[in-house]
Amino acid sequence: MKKIFFVFLALHVALFASFIKVCQNCHGKTFEKRALGRSRVVKNLKKDEIIQRLKYFKTSNSIMKSYASRLSDKQIKQIANVFGR
Ligand code: HEC
Repeated sequence: MKKIFFVFLALHVALFASFIKVCQNCHGKTFEKRALGRSRVVKNLKKDEIIQRLKYFKTSNSIMKSYASRLSDKQIKQIANVFGR
């Protein structure tokens, strides 16, 4: 039973790491950078604000549109929980 839990956990972490990789190119490994010198530093934002911004980007003209559109609500929540304040 324990083994199954750890396999599940490892898969979960690997999956998260894979969809977050593209973001890190612009935002930095821990979202500590100003993406393209333009964005705010995401790791300094509140969880709620990150969720709100990513949902907004889905229908925006921002460079973020294509990246945000690919995220599910669940993935958006995960990102906010891991990187937000
Ligand atoms: C090509 C570079 C690039 C990539 C890749 C990218 N971003 Fe961004 N991101 C930006 C820029 C530039 C802004 C500011 C955009 C704006 O305000 O219109 C931004 C803004 C944001 C913001 C809001 C910060 C603010 O200024 O309000 C969040 C949250 C965010 N990005 C998360 C992500 C996530 C999560 C991913 C991956 C799914 C991602 N970004 C991928 C460049 C990028």
